[in-house]
Amino acid sequence: MTETVDKTEWQVGDAEERRVILSAEDITVRFGTQTVLDGLDLDVYAGEVLGFIGPSGSGKSVLLRTVLGLNRKQGGTISLFGQNIEELDEDERTAIDMAMGVLFQHGALFSSLNVLENIQVPMREYLDLPKKLMNELAMLKIEMVGLPPEAAWKFPDELSGGMVKRAALARALSLDPAIVFLDEPTSGLDPIGAADFDELVRQLSDTLGLTVYMVTHDLDSLFSVCDRIAVLGDKKVRVAGTIEDMLVCEDPWVQSYFNGKRARQIKR
Ligand SMILES: Nc1ncnc2c1ncn2[C@@H]1O[C@H](COP(=O)(O)OP(=O)(O)O)[C@@H](O)[C@H]1O
Ligand SMILES: [Mg+2]
Repeated sequence: MTETVDKTEWQVGDAEERRVILSAEDITVRFGTQTVLDGLDLDVYAGEVLGFIGPSGSGKSVLLRTVLGLNRKQGGTISLFGQNIEELDEDERTAIDMAMGVLFQHGALFSSLNVLENIQVPMREYLDLPKKLMNELAMLKIEMVGLPPEAAWKFPDELSGGMVKRAALARALSLDPAIVFLDEPTSGLDPIGAADFDELVRQLSDTLGLTVYMVTHDLDSLFSVCDRIAVLGDKKVRVAGTIEDMLVCEDPWVQSYFNGKRARQIKR
């Protein structure tokens, strides 16, 4: 297979370089007569943790699925690792898929597989590795996400909510991606569990040079872990920038979104 994505080139220590790893340009997505996204633009920089927020039902998951090529779009261009995803042949597409990890919003673990086997699912799909090596690699991921080694042999229904999320993150990291997409990874966790998970995400981004695209409605995590925040509202990204940028943003939609209780939270 032609290696079209050199992942290591994108696994950078910080986002200072401002290299665009993901670009969504003028994206329009409709379902029947419902327009969910309309001329949406967004750039994500290599090495950053981007928090993606917006009201429930505004299209956050739809955008994610569109970026991953799982959703039809009616207009616009998605580029990953500098390549327009519509201009890829099958091998190039596979190389890009292998450089990305995903934790879907309702993406549970396979209940009939233990944690180790769950983490190995992407390895089995894309790689041809001896079992012993796959086991070693999966154990490494388990350690990386802060699970105890014995968690490897547990089945999903034997794990706490927080452990399930960590195991799912380990599966998303299975192929050493350059970018991971996390769709509301801390929903359903208690605040301490959520804060621990956010902290882990930050650490992984720093140590692995991993780019993180995290859909969240947890405003607390935005301050502690995100380099930048993008706000989806009224079918577009209204603003993408630091928390300080949010506070001075004059877009009326953004102002009203951060008003009231949320505004108090965001002003600390
Ligand atoms: N496959 C689909 N078919 C029809 N409508 C969809 C589909 N997927 C999402 N939608 C609609 O798109 C809108 C945005 O959904 P979603 O992206 O899941 O919101 P959220 O921001 O909460 O993640 C919702 O109105 C949803 O009903
Ligand atoms: Mg969603």
